[in-house]
Amino acid sequence: MSDVPISMELKEVLSYTGLTSKYIMSLFLLLISLSAILSSVWACPSEESIAPACLCKEFGEGGMLMCKNISSAEDLRPLITAAEPYDMFALTIMQSVLLHIPSALFKNSKYRKIGFLRTQLLSLSESDLAFEGLEDRLEELRATAARYSAHWDWSQLKNHRRLKLIDIDLVEMHALDQEFPPLKSLKLLGISRAEIAVIHPNAFSGLENLEILYLRGNWIAKMSRSMLPNPAKKLATIDLSGNLLNTLPKDMFEGMPNLMEVNLSYNTFTTLRKESFLWPFEHLQALMLTGNELRCDCRMKWIIQTRKPLYFTANCTAPQVLKGLGLSYLTNKVLKFCDSRETLPLNTTMRE
Ligand SMILES: *[C@@H]1O[C@H](CO)[C@@H](O)[C@H](O)[C@H]1NC(C)=O
Ligand SMILES: *[C@@H]1O[C@H](CO)[C@@H](O)[C@H](O)[C@H]1NC(C)=O
Ligand SMILES: *[C@@H]1O[C@H](CO)[C@@H](O)[C@H](O)[C@H]1NC(C)=O
Ligand SMILES: *[C@@H]1O[C@H](CO)[C@@H](O)[C@H](O)[C@H]1NC(C)=O
Repeated sequence: MSDVPISMELKEVLSYTGLTSKYIMSLFLLLISLSAILSSVWACPSEESIAPACLCKEFGEGGMLMCKNISSAEDLRPLITAAEPYDMFALTIMQSVLLHIPSALFKNSKYRKIGFLRTQLLSLSESDLAFEGLEDRLEELRATAARYSAHWDWSQLKNHRRLKLIDIDLVEMHALDQEFPPLKSLKLLGISRAEIAVIHPNAFSGLENLEILYLRGNWIAKMSRSMLPNPAKKLATIDLSGNLLNTLPKDMFEGMPNLMEVNLSYNTFTTLRKESFLWPFEHLQALMLTGNELRCDCRMKWIIQTRKPLYFTANCTAPQVLKGLGLSYLTNKVLKFCDSRETLPLNTTMRE
């Protein structure tokens, strides 16, 4: 085991698993002083049974097992077995290399959260089902910062009935070339900075209760309405920032009665077509378009008379005279040339 202080690693795992509330942090400080006693008394297996690869910490919810530097599924098995009799709620596997997680590994476990941190995991399971035994328990699945690509077969999660959150960040996936299984429990799906360029035309259509979709920082150049459930009754947030979008289909936001926030910052939009953007302008609470090279020419005239979302970020980058002007400040005066010369080419600049 390396000499990195336990407290440092624990902090990292906590922040990555989202356990950073004040409550947890104060509990965490308490644990640092009492860790030896607490970890052996309540939810955790003895240190000897899991050392040197793993550590276990007790939290209000139960035990959290953190294992590091695991190089094969077989090395993982005795560690998981040692923790079976205890009331464990979370497992984090760090800095490890695994071809897959044996599907039956968790048959006698109770984990609600499983995470992979800086871990190469080629596939979720060697059979057609992943994390068997946790179907009515597993709520969160996270993977962050793998150095290698992963080819996960999402259908292996099809029997999971409690899964609320899947959050993948910085794991090379390249494509989402299959439909996600229709997980009714799933509320948050995040696949960010995963080099996703290809998305199956019905990828997320079965996730009928999805509330939040994060696809930040990928290579997505095209979205279609069919990728999302229809209707998407619960969908409130879509984050497609940092992709390669320059247009959206005109029905993109149809059948999304609860949509509140859309982040399209840092894409390649140069204009906002009325047929795609009128609905979001009129209905969203927040629309982010920072970092797009928006050309404020006559094509954007429709925006002047249109309601803007409460939180709205978008600036002109061209023509030069309008550079930096917020789109909320476009006026008939600013675009007056559009009225006087209807036949002007669309790319007209203010200098003409
Ligand atoms: C990781 O495990 C291997 C054996 O599997 C060992 O040789 C190596 O020293 C370990 N590295 C760390 C940082 O613990
Ligand atoms: C929108 O996306 C950008 C880039 O990913 C990010 O910096 C910004 O915080 C996001 N805005 C909101 C309100 O989420
Ligand atoms: C965008 O426009 C707003 C409002 O006009 C302004 O406050 C902000 O500084 C502009 N941002 C840039 C990057 O020009
Ligand atoms: C505008 O477009 C026309 C034809 O599409 C082209 O000939 C002209 O050079 C363009 N002007 C500018 C300033 O880009």
